[in-house]
Amino acid sequence: AVVPLKDIVERAFDGRYGVPAINIFNDLTLEAVLAGAVEASSPVIVQTSVKTVRSIGADVLFRMWEGMTAGIEVPVTLHLDHCPDRAVITECLDRGWNSVLFDASELPVAENQRQTIEVVAQARRCGAHVEGEIESITGVEDGVGSDAESVRQPLQVALDFIAETGVDVFAPAIGNAHGKYKQAPVLDVQRVSDIVQATGIPIALHGGSGLSDAQFGDLIARGCAKVNISTALKQEYMRSSLVFLKGAEQADTWDPPSLFRAVGTDVKTLTVGLAKQFGSAGKA
Ligand code: 13P
Ligand code: ZN
Ligand code: NA
Repeated sequence: AVVPLKDIVERAFDGRYGVPAINIFNDLTLEAVLAGAVEASSPVIVQTSVKTVRSIGADVLFRMWEGMTAGIEVPVTLHLDHCPDRAVITECLDRGWNSVLFDASELPVAENQRQTIEVVAQARRCGAHVEGEIESITGVEDGVGSDAESVRQPLQVALDFIAETGVDVFAPAIGNAHGKYKQAPVLDVQRVSDIVQATGIPIALHGGSGLSDAQFGDLIARGCAKVNISTALKQEYMRSSLVFLKGAEQADTWDPPSLFRAVGTDVKTLTVGLAKQFGSAGKA
């Protein structure tokens, strides 16, 4: 069933497992991620970037979501990823998204905080939840962000932001980065523990693609209940497509649905693997 973000994330937080929060970008990836969650008996958080919302349109995207989740037996929820644009936040909340990441990390913390308080109030009126962020996470994700090193705020600034805004999930910069890691990441895992101990709030781990099994395990044990994956799915989509298309060219065949089936199967397999890796498999 489609459930609020908090239902999924708080159960995972209490049980100390991670839920894959996967960025989909078309009907095929949405269908395959949902199929993977069902196969793994796992909850899943489906995320859309602002770019995806703009390219498909909130209305069509939401109708796809409704159609594909009708009668689904595992807990699923629809989340808007990194969104600095209040108009898109409003559009998605009004249309039925279950949660949003209001990403005002480019603004000074005081202004970010002032606006996040407004977004939390707005979300509450829609029965939706909010993820907050005060430090731009390194790397560009579908056109949002920059490659500049994240500037980490003092712990107390993060704790005050969480207390003042009432966000449901918090996304700290801990040396993580969007996209491929150019060098092995040095993670400030203690920062996750410090925030969790002081606030009891579940943490969103960004930049998941490229982290090791051991890093995921450690971070999830410390309270990263929402684990964001985008780049790995895009890479798998392209790799799988290329392999299939090379074969099709050799065989001189042209049947697009068989390409979709091949790619969909590989994206589903990736999703099942993530659910097993993060411990959410069997937790539906
Ligand atoms: P990756 O692209 O590194 O998986 O990061 C995903 C993410 O944080 C989405 O917000
Ligand atoms: Zn992110
Ligand atoms: Na990454």
